[in-house]
Amino acid sequence: MSTTTALNTDWQRVIEEIAEEVKPLLATGAVADYIPELRNVDKDNFGMFVSLLDGREYYCGQAQTKFSVQSISKVFTLTKAFSMLKDGLWERVGKEPSGNPFNSLIQLEHENGKPRNPFINAGAIVVADCVVSHTQDSLNDMIDYIRGLAANKAIHIDHAMFRSEKAFGHRNAALAHFMKSYGNIESDVDEVLDFYFGHCSLSMSCEDVSRAFLFLANHGVHPLTNKRYLTASQAKRLNALLLTCGTYDAAGDFAFRVGMPGKSGVGGGIAAIIPGLLSVCVWSPGLDKYGNSLAGVKALELFTTKTGISIF
Ligand code: DON
Repeated sequence: MSTTTALNTDWQRVIEEIAEEVKPLLATGAVADYIPELRNVDKDNFGMFVSLLDGREYYCGQAQTKFSVQSISKVFTLTKAFSMLKDGLWERVGKEPSGNPFNSLIQLEHENGKPRNPFINAGAIVVADCVVSHTQDSLNDMIDYIRGLAANKAIHIDHAMFRSEKAFGHRNAALAHFMKSYGNIESDVDEVLDFYFGHCSLSMSCEDVSRAFLFLANHGVHPLTNKRYLTASQAKRLNALLLTCGTYDAAGDFAFRVGMPGKSGVGGGIAAIIPGLLSVCVWSPGLDKYGNSLAGVKALELFTTKTGISIF
């Protein structure tokens, strides 16, 4: 990335152009319906928020509307688990793309209950177990941690979403019990699942998520608070996992089209970063067949195309 390009970019104009260009796509995605509560979200929503490391911020559309963060929250639990367990974490969960849907059960048996990576559901449930086994009052502690990352105390669980996830979370329960049978879940399965459903059910805006990802663009230190969340080496590794596994079996396509490490959620959010420069969060609830926001991926593709800035 050239510094001149970054300095000369008219960020506000770029994101407003993008919002206009993706409008025809908003109706074409499908909202996730396997969590019934997600069906109630309006597909017309689109928001985008850009946070530069130098403190400048730009946004458009519904960037301040709260949405269900779902799998984006797996980045925050992974950060916490990685900082506590360090490289010991990789004895419990792998670092390879799965090439399978995010909630697949198939690979787990072949691989003896060790999930491929921390972002597929099985991997995030192992990460949840690590956090639950090493903290007191784990969910409240995790919510406070995320509030600190987003510099916003007004981040809460959507309790209707939580109940909906729990009532229909049979696949996740199956994954957790299966891994318990291999000894890869230490705590009580129901406690781990409640923690997992809890962090997935958090409501955050693009503004919250974009700010919460800034530490990954800044070698592990949050530029708004100067707090270190990861070592520089750990931040590098987490970004590598985002690039290779953050958008599931579409991670290759996402890297090809967008060129940023990023994480999606079935609520329609995608957060991505460029080390040394910025973080960005986009939200549009209509999903593609991989479970990534359809207009969101396009918006990020346009973002790196129009600015000429990517990690490559
Ligand atoms: O466990 C689930 O299925 C959801 N709570 C999270 C899945 C998700 O967001 C996958 N993202 N693209």
